[in-house]
Amino acid sequence: MKDKFGRNIEYLRVSVTDRCNLRCRYCMPEEGIKDKKRHSDIMTLEEIYEVVKACADLGVNKVRITGGEPLTRYGITSLIEKISRLEGIKDIAMTTNAVLLKKYAKGLKEAGLKRVNISLDTMKAEKYKEITRFGSIGEVFAGMEEARKVGLLPLKINVVLIGGFNDDEIGDFVELTRNEDIQVRFIELMPIGQAADWARDNFIPNTTVLERFPELQPVETGDKSSPAEYYRLPGGLGKVGLINPISHKFCSSCNRLRLTADGKIKPCLHSNQEIDVLQTLRKGQNVKELIESAIRQKPSEHHLDDGEAIDRDMMRIGG
Ligand code: GTP
Ligand code: 5AD
Ligand code: SF4
Repeated sequence: MKDKFGRNIEYLRVSVTDRCNLRCRYCMPEEGIKDKKRHSDIMTLEEIYEVVKACADLGVNKVRITGGEPLTRYGITSLIEKISRLEGIKDIAMTTNAVLLKKYAKGLKEAGLKRVNISLDTMKAEKYKEITRFGSIGEVFAGMEEARKVGLLPLKINVVLIGGFNDDEIGDFVELTRNEDIQVRFIELMPIGQAADWARDNFIPNTTVLERFPELQPVETGDKSSPAEYYRLPGGLGKVGLINPISHKFCSSCNRLRLTADGKIKPCLHSNQEIDVLQTLRKGQNVKELIESAIRQKPSEHHLDDGEAIDRDMMRIGG
């Protein structure tokens, strides 16, 4: 379905939980989420499926499962299996921290998941523990290896750039793309939710990557709705992506909607506007019409650079 600015809405990002098994410093406080949602406020897997189905009927063909950490949601593999069987769904992927991926990868592939984007901000064990507060990097590497083995490809690694923390590892991450068809994407820190001040204090621009690697050559992907701009090392098999969620405005070609774990449609990541589909679903009313109206309400662009603050935390949006 087209929105009122002529953009074809075909990508749905579904956050299946706001819980996570890590506590990344830019995302969650150490003690976890402050105002935990009651179990009854979170969509059941059946309800999520109903909304995804309605979206598929309206023309969505790409679904991304996010969190919190989606692999902590009980029954996730069966949800993916049902979504992948929906008519019209061509691409189904997941964004995960990969801590539990070794255990789940094979089942996910068999259920129809096509690929995974993995969040990994450092390749050093001590630093991984420092930034995630209790993650063990060995599990992430094992998860990535299993993803390769079962064919959840191409792998994409999301690296959030943090000044004074991982700028010394930019070279190590870029090197990964030399001999493997992998995408390493550097994301600029976004000042969102509880960690907004921390993010502002530790921000470094993505241009740092190009300054360190002037040999990176721009690659045209033709995907105008992607948040990333891509580059390649001369002769490199993989790609390096730069994601500037704030400065690189792709609003004019944005093709996405978001569904939060508590059943709200967010037409734009950077806006506080939310449409409650869960309530409507539980009243037995028509959810498709509501989604159509959410698509109609999608704003033409975000106004983050004018200082608009986003109330919802990142783990409650799913990136
Ligand atoms: P692909 O399907 O592999 O292209 O995935 P993706 O890049 O859409 O998803 P992923 O979950 O890996 O997101 C990567 C980064 O892009 C995250 O930091 C997101 O917050 C950011 N991002 C995703 N969607 C949007 C969006 O609508 N607007 C902006 N500005 N940034 C976004
Ligand atoms: N700024 C930038 N990226 C973030 N992510 C989570 N919080 C932030 C933030 N404040 C990233 C995660 C994940 C992706 C979906 O969003 O690391 O890779
Ligand atoms: Fe969990 Fe992702 Fe937030 Fe880290 S950034 S705490 S992995 S939801």
